[in-house]
Amino acid sequence: MGSAGPVRSVGGMNENHARVCSSPEWAAYIQGEILPSLTDQADLGDDMLEIGPGPGAATEWLRHRVKRLTVLEVDDEAAGKLADRYAGGNVEVAVGSGAKLGYPDGSFDSVGCFTMLHHVPTVALQNKILAEAFRVLRPGGMLIGSDSLASNDLRHFHSGDTYNPIEPAPVLGRLQTLGFDKITVMVDGILKFVARKPTGPGACGAEPVPEPGAEAAA
Ligand SMILES: C[S@@+](CC[C@H](N)C(=O)[O-])C[C@H]1O[C@@H](n2cnc3c(N)ncnc32)[C@H](O)[C@@H]1O
Repeated sequence: MGSAGPVRSVGGMNENHARVCSSPEWAAYIQGEILPSLTDQADLGDDMLEIGPGPGAATEWLRHRVKRLTVLEVDDEAAGKLADRYAGGNVEVAVGSGAKLGYPDGSFDSVGCFTMLHHVPTVALQNKILAEAFRVLRPGGMLIGSDSLASNDLRHFHSGDTYNPIEPAPVLGRLQTLGFDKITVMVDGILKFVARKPTGPGACGAEPVPEPGAEAAA
């Protein structure tokens, strides 16, 4: 995700994102580097939820590695395109926010969120998404995620769009507070994380701690 160009808004993303996230270069990067390094450390199981699939670069790779892939996208136009593309296959597309998941506790073996948390306007709302991921994971289920590191170039790139980059250092504490264990946070050009929902008494999780002064809007 490089230089800032035109910034007109398209659906939930500005035009820079629409262009980059749907490009073959982005698909090659996320499928060739990011996802394999995460799935090396996490068994996805049969049922996976992906939050914020956008144009579907990760979806396309993940759908070959699980029996059923549910993708939840807040932008109904992006969700509609994915629903058309994957009709009749093993991908179920839903429209909604990762901050309020309509799935029962323990529904999924794994949850993934890639390059999407920085589009969530507050830390409180990001924590709500991570808490919901925890809730819908079965005990022993795995969360995998990635995001870009903060930079001025990326701030310009997101002009006219939400840009709330994730600080890597607090991620471990944020995930641990929500109840996750076996947490790995990696920084190698981007931020990557893997965490497990415990199988023991810790599996009950915790309410996300509200960001000071922030509205916990969904
Ligand atoms: C930069 S795109 C990343 C797309 C894809 N995950 C990838 O890495 O190629 C971020 C996506 O997250 C979606 N998104 C943002 N907030 C969301 C939320 N609260 N729930 C679900 N999707 C969300 C946006 O609409 C957008 O499609």
